[in-house]
Amino acid sequence: MKRIIAAAAVTLFTASLALAADVITLPAKNGDVTFPHKKHQELLKDCKVCHEKGPGKIEGFGKDIAHKNCKGCHEEKKAGPTKCSECHKK
Ligand code: HEC
Ligand code: HEC
Ligand code: HEC
Repeated sequence: MKRIIAAAAVTLFTASLALAADVITLPAKNGDVTFPHKKHQELLKDCKVCHEKGPGKIEGFGKDIAHKNCKGCHEEKKAGPTKCSECHKK
């Protein structure tokens, strides 16, 4: 019985870790942006597209980087949101 409880606890723990990394909320005054991180990892494969200096927090991340990088790629590939309200949800 003890073992079953321990296994369940481990499953719960890994599930919550995976959730934290799957989708990242990027806060913005004009509406937070829900960023499907895992989906982009799988889609783009290369972390360096967004993480020049390696995985983790992105130094100076904000409007300028986001619009150039995120919106820029969506426009170029003609896929993914490019309208303000498609990214910024109130
Ligand atoms: C399309 C852009 C993009 C791609 C591709 C991408 N990431 Fe990220 N990642 C982000 C953004 C944006 C953040 C949030 C950055 C911040 O808050 O400073 C982030 C955050 C992270 C974090 C920190 C998570 C946290 O909760 O603090 C890690 C770790 C990470 N990414 C790893 C990776 C790895 C590994 C890959 C490649 C397999 C990858 N990322 C690919 C955009 C991307
Ligand atoms: C592809 C998604 C995307 C689109 C499209 C987009 N934005 Fe953003 N925007 C972001 C992200 C991501 C941030 C950075 C959030 C952060 O710093 O955590 C941001 C930041 C901002 C900020 C700064 C918010 C703050 O709290 O400082 C403003 C203002 C803004 N965007 C306005 C706009 C307007 C206006 C449009 C349409 C012309 C637009 N955005 C289109 C993703 C997008
Ligand atoms: C190098 C290219 C690239 C970059 C950089 C990129 N994206 Fe995307 N993104 C895509 C593509 C391609 C899609 C369309 C995926 C699909 O429809 O399956 C997409 C889809 C999305 C979607 C819609 C997801 C859905 O499930 O409908 C959101 C939201 C999004 N991106 C936000 C962002 C934000 C925020 C950033 C920057 C932190 C970003 N993207 C950076 C290529 C990119």
